Amino acid sequence: MNISDLSKQIEVIYEESLKVFKAASSSKNLYDLKVEFLGKKGKLSLLMGLMSKLPNQDKPKFGSLINVKKKLLEEAYTEYKTKLDLIDLNKKLDQEYLDMSLPGKEIETGALHPIQKVSENIVNIFSRLGFSVRTGNLIEKDYYNFEALNIPKDHPSRDMQDTFYIDDNHVLRTHTSPIQIHTLETEKAPLRIIGLGSVFRSDSDISHSPNFYQIEGLLVEKKVSMANLKGTVSFFVKEFFGKELKTRFRPSFFPFTEPSAEVDCQCSSCMGSGCSLCGQTGWIEIGGCGLVNPKVLKLSNVNKDTENNETDWQAYAFGFGIERMAILKYGIKSIRFFNQNDIRFLSQFK
Ligand code: DAH
Repeated sequence: MNISDLSKQIEVIYEESLKVFKAASSSKNLYDLKVEFLGKKGKLSLLMGLMSKLPNQDKPKFGSLINVKKKLLEEAYTEYKTKLDLIDLNKKLDQEYLDMSLPGKEIETGALHPIQKVSENIVNIFSRLGFSVRTGNLIEKDYYNFEALNIPKDHPSRDMQDTFYIDDNHVLRTHTSPIQIHTLETEKAPLRIIGLGSVFRSDSDISHSPNFYQIEGLLVEKKVSMANLKGTVSFFVKEFFGKELKTRFRPSFFPFTEPSAEVDCQCSSCMGSGCSLCGQTGWIEIGGCGLVNPKVLKLSNVNKDTENNETDWQAYAFGFGIERMAILKYGIKSIRFFNQNDIRFLSQFK
């Protein structure tokens, strides 16, 4: 036994090993082959055992020869293993429906429409004051939209509201005030309700949309004053904007309230000092209000609770534009954005 014989044997085992590694059919098969050739009792290790039979001067050469081949084989093993692992993975993926190794798909969350967001916000504030929500009907009898609110057929204020008529007797509601009448007719006082939803007017330009949103409030109790009304509205404005904004009432006219007022709140953008949003006045109108006209209370029979002899109910009411509130709260530049369904606008309200 001499070094040249052993070197040849090393070469033979090395070549054979390379061949079988290359032909391995799976990672598992390759691993078994690795054990067979490179393992502790593998073919190469057995050759190593023959080193003792060599003369001393040949031992280092032999040892380094084996080590070089061992290293080369280990590298070959790693290379083939990577390839086989990939094949195994693809085989597995072909058989399995679910690929757990793929990155997950991000789920896009939507955002509430600002009108919805503001509506919920308003309802929340009033519900803390004991008000609950009524939605009413989008199509109303002329009676509920006008007559019962003390707006007779020839009344000039009908002209203020460009009405969509369905037929002689039915309209798309022009405001949420008819909700007051339905509630007064069907529910018993005392009452605290918020009515809200879509309203329609045949009006469309830069600052008007034919379909917009209103919120209506109605409170019926034994003693109701303008002071109560102002207290409620001022509280609401502060809560809604989350700022110490002042509220002011300007005398006005609505057929269904007496006295009537228009409500302004300090501009939430400049806090009252004057800016482009409020036309440099420091104030912005948000809606109308007043004590419910006794004629309206009478028509709806709220004071005819003969059973309990209740005849002296009083009421206040208010109505605000929801778009206006949203514009003020979020600094929205145009009423048109609300109906355009532009995802760039809507996604800002996440
Ligand atoms: N309905 C009125 C409108 O659409 C707003 C309004 C004013 C509602 C005064 C009220 C109120 O309840 O008291 O212009």
